[in-house]
Amino acid sequence: MKTIIEPFRIKTVEPIRFTSVAERQAFLRAANYNLFTLKSDDVLIDLLTDSGTSAMSAAQWGALQRGDESYAGSPSFFRFEAAVQDLMPFRHVIPTHQGRAAEAILFSLIGGPGRKIPSNTHFDTTRGNIESGGAEAHDLLIAEGRRPDADHPFKGNMDVDALEAFLARHGDAVPCVMLTVTNNAGGGQPVSLANIRAVAETARRHGKPFFIDGCRFAENAWFIKEREEGQRGRAVKDIVRDMFAAADGMTMSAKKDAFANIGGWLALNDDDLALQARNRLILTEGFPTYGGMAGRDLDAIAQGLREIVDEDYLRYRVRTAAYLTEKLHALGVPVMRPAGGHAVFVDARAWLDHIPPLSYPGQAAAVALYELGGIRTCEIGTVMFGRKPDGTEAAAAMDLVRLALPRRVYTQSHADYVAETFEEVHRLRPRLKGFRIVEQPRFMRHFTAKFARLD
Ligand code: F0G
Repeated sequence: MKTIIEPFRIKTVEPIRFTSVAERQAFLRAANYNLFTLKSDDVLIDLLTDSGTSAMSAAQWGALQRGDESYAGSPSFFRFEAAVQDLMPFRHVIPTHQGRAAEAILFSLIGGPGRKIPSNTHFDTTRGNIESGGAEAHDLLIAEGRRPDADHPFKGNMDVDALEAFLARHGDAVPCVMLTVTNNAGGGQPVSLANIRAVAETARRHGKPFFIDGCRFAENAWFIKEREEGQRGRAVKDIVRDMFAAADGMTMSAKKDAFANIGGWLALNDDDLALQARNRLILTEGFPTYGGMAGRDLDAIAQGLREIVDEDYLRYRVRTAAYLTEKLHALGVPVMRPAGGHAVFVDARAWLDHIPPLSYPGQAAAVALYELGGIRTCEIGTVMFGRKPDGTEAAAAMDLVRLALPRRVYTQSHADYVAETFEEVHRLRPRLKGFRIVEQPRFMRHFTAKFARLD
């Protein structure tokens, strides 16, 4: 059969509230054109993030009931730990309330002034946790990964030669090497197993531990199975094990590839570092057998990890982003291709080329998609990255709009509706106006800035 169907039936539903264009225009004015300020009840299709927005399975809801809330030594923890170690063979698994808490603990121990930490591309919270401790975050992505239209099967790969040179030059200042799979900030693009192994080998030769930010590990493993020489016949689960066997530890947000609404972990092989991490955990998150979570969350994650490596699910999952990407491409909308795992990325700078970067073409596109179709997306461009620490403003490297796809939530007809909305925005695009910022905080301005439309 050619049609790849949703590999689930729907048992519980949440109604979507329909709104008119006129109502949405009023909501936009009240929100000062910042989509983070909208009430989610006023959104028809919410593609703001795939984080914590997954639909849990009947088995996960059942697992919640099994959750044991003992302060110490809960069986929920041991089920969680076993499920993680079944996929990621690390000696120590330290539960946190979400991914950034794992990052905060790790970099409070190995970061600090003078340190430099290379990755393919650090996600914003990772960069934030590194920089807030006084260290530097460096992105060493391959050149193809920075070009939205470059065709390459693994646009998330790290430039291994650049890493080698970086370590040769700054070796003493580097406490670890990182790799984000898939590369969220670079379009959800995968990293090949060969690249993971080459990065691991390079780090090891320089005596540096190697950590994977594994948020979307299952999607990454599926791409390896589909695209990498010699990996095609293999089970995704075995590929996942190989990915993590190359590393010394990982950070994880269970809000992504564990189908959970909250949760995360830090995993490590180093006994001494794990001891320090658990001591920090007790100060900031909680006792080591629950960290930042309730026992029931630990059980929901344990079950979610069994479901996420299901290959029928992954085939459908990766197809969803590709389906929408192809539809938008056929309409003439410039999109990042090939599609990544969790999202569709629209190149708004190319699409709305009459709006200069400092008038925020990504914001203009995101506002138009909400106004005309009730679709909420996220600008990843000059609004998010354009303000420098000294308060000056410059165009970001790209002006993208991300359509992140919550897991198991929307169906193919929702995707068709999104494409139809794009068709309408595409038709009207010469009339779309840019924006200016009328009020903003010093950091992370995209969450709270107020905008006005330019005349
Ligand atoms: N690393 C990556 C690659 C991420 O995408 C995220 C979160 C985190 C770390 C932090 O995890 O949210 O559990 O603290 N990404 C979300 C997103 C917020 O929308 O892409 P967290």
